[in-house]
Order: sequence, then structure tokens, then C-alpha cells
Amino acid sequence: MMENVILIGFMGAGKTSVGTLYSQKHGLDFIDTDQMIEETEGMTVSRIFEEKGEEAFRRMETGLLERLTRKGKAALISAGGGLPLREENRKLLKGLGTVVYLDVSAETVLSRLKGDTTRPLLMGDHVKEKVENMLKARGPIYEEASHVKIDVNNKGPEEIVSEIDHFIGLEFGR
Ligand code: S3P
Repeated sequence: MMENVILIGFMGAGKTSVGTLYSQKHGLDFIDTDQMIEETEGMTVSRIFEEKGEEAFRRMETGLLERLTRKGKAALISAGGGLPLREENRKLLKGLGTVVYLDVSAETVLSRLKGDTTRPLLMGDHVKEKVENMLKARGPIYEEASHVKIDVNNKGPEEIVSEIDHFIGLEFGR
């Protein structure tokens, strides 16, 4: 029986593209926490930040994780970049399954998210400094929240999926 696999990491790490491929390969449900919150709230993440604030969004993430804990069928869960920041969320994540940290450099994030307008935390000026500072602050948190770290720079989704498979094979002795 396959258990849940959860992808965490910074915006632009490739959680959605890797997660989509991984879920297709293994016939798992694909769950994207941002997308689920957008559906439940009936508005985009940007609008939630604007109208209700980041704290409210973080509470929604925790509520969603609690609901996912009760879900039966195994899934690939792609977690919003800031979801592991709350300690209670880190506990919930590890309880849900194998947590894989996709580790990305500031350079890769900046090239992938150039022109993106869907990430409220990266809007405005000094985006490079913002990304660098957030990456530095979040690195240890992502490490703590995960079972394994994969360097995703200069790799495509297929290669990253193989690395996840390799780790999960080792972990479960398959
Ligand atoms: C956030 C990451 C976003 C989204 C929101 C906040 C963050 O998700 O949840 O904009 O704090 O890093 P992605 O990592 O899927 O872009």
C-alpha cells in the first residue's frame, strides 16, 4: 500500500510540476493545498492575502491539513511554500506521510518566477533580496519538516521523480 507523499519547499521549487508527474506515475490523487483553499474560499490566494491577510491564510492551511489527515486514499500533496512555517503544521505533515523537501536556489526561483503575479509575498520591489532572505530563514524549517531533501536545481521533473522513488524504495525496503 502506498502512503501519502508530501512535497514542500519554496515557491518555484517545482512542487506542482513534480507532484503532477509523480501522482500520474503512481496513480495517486494529486492535492495542491493552494488550489484546495482557492476552491473552498472561492477566491485566489492573492485575494485572500489582500482581503483577509496572511494570518487568515495560514489558519486555512492548518484547517486543510487537519481535514487531509482524515482522508482515506493515498495522495501526492503539494504544500504551499509557507505551510511548514507553523510548528503544528510540521507535525501534521509528518503524520500524513513521507515529506520530501525540494531544495531550490534563489537563482532558480528568480528565473522561474520572473513576471509571476500570483505570489503575493514576491510582489513589489527588491524581489531578489526578499527571495534570498526568505530562503535563508526557511531553509532550516524545511529541513526540520521533512524526511528527505532533494536538490532540484538544473533538474527536470522526471529526474526528481526518480530520486523520490529511489528514496521511498530505500525507506520501505522495496
Ligand atoms: C507562499 C507560497 C505559495 C502560496 C502563497 C504563500 C509562501 O504557494 O501558498 O502565495 O509563503 O511561500 P507555492 O509555494 O505553491 O507558490
